[in-house]
Amino acid sequence: MIATAGSDEKVAWALENGADEGINHAREDVLGKMRDHRGGRRRGRDRYHGETPFRESLKLAGYGGRVAALTNVALEESMIDTRDFYPNNVTIYGFQITNPMQHLGYDPRGDLEELADLVARGKLKVNMDKVFPLKGAGDAHRHLEACRNTGKVMIHPQG
Ligand SMILES: NC(=O)c1ccc[n+]([C@@H]2O[C@H](COP(=O)([O-])OP(=O)(O)OC[C@H]3O[C@@H](n4cnc5c(N)ncnc54)[C@H](OP(=O)(O)O)[C@@H]3O)[C@@H](O)[C@H]2O)c1
Repeated sequence: MIATAGSDEKVAWALENGADEGINHAREDVLGKMRDHRGGRRRGRDRYHGETPFRESLKLAGYGGRVAALTNVALEESMIDTRDFYPNNVTIYGFQITNPMQHLGYDPRGDLEELADLVARGKLKVNMDKVFPLKGAGDAHRHLEACRNTGKVMIHPQG
């Protein structure tokens, strides 16, 4: 598993938490480093710096690869080039957690019970970054907006 993050501290945290490799996207060329991991195989046109992460991902996917999109933190349009995926038989998946429940007949209770059980047995650990009291809600938002968190940020109603 290769993780990317915007600071050396967060990359180190990802490595401590199971990532095999880490890339600081704020100062490193993500596509160049990923290409190194793939044995230097180049795919088509080759200048990627500054492109959106999603477009980068399409260029990195191998033959028959799968790319999943489940957020757009940048809140910018994701411009893609069909030539970055169809020649390699790459599949793009969209995922939004509430849609399967509201529109696709998915009942999450079985999966949630399994997850809760894994947490209860200590097999799964949820990384909590920081708990803010309700009166510190503004600080919690500023903390998130500064991208400093590693893990979940909670506002405690009785804090
Ligand atoms: N599809 C779904 O069902 C689903 C479910 C839950 C959450 N989400 C979405 O997933 C996203 C992440 O959630 P989270 O709880 O992991 O939030 P988070 O802990 O706040 O992570 C957001 C991280 O994204 C990176 N980031 C922020 N602005 C960016 C930008 N302009 N360009 C690139 N990277 C940027 C920052 O990390 P670095 O700077 O270190 O990269 C930031 O810490 C949210 O947008 C949330 O709405 C989707």
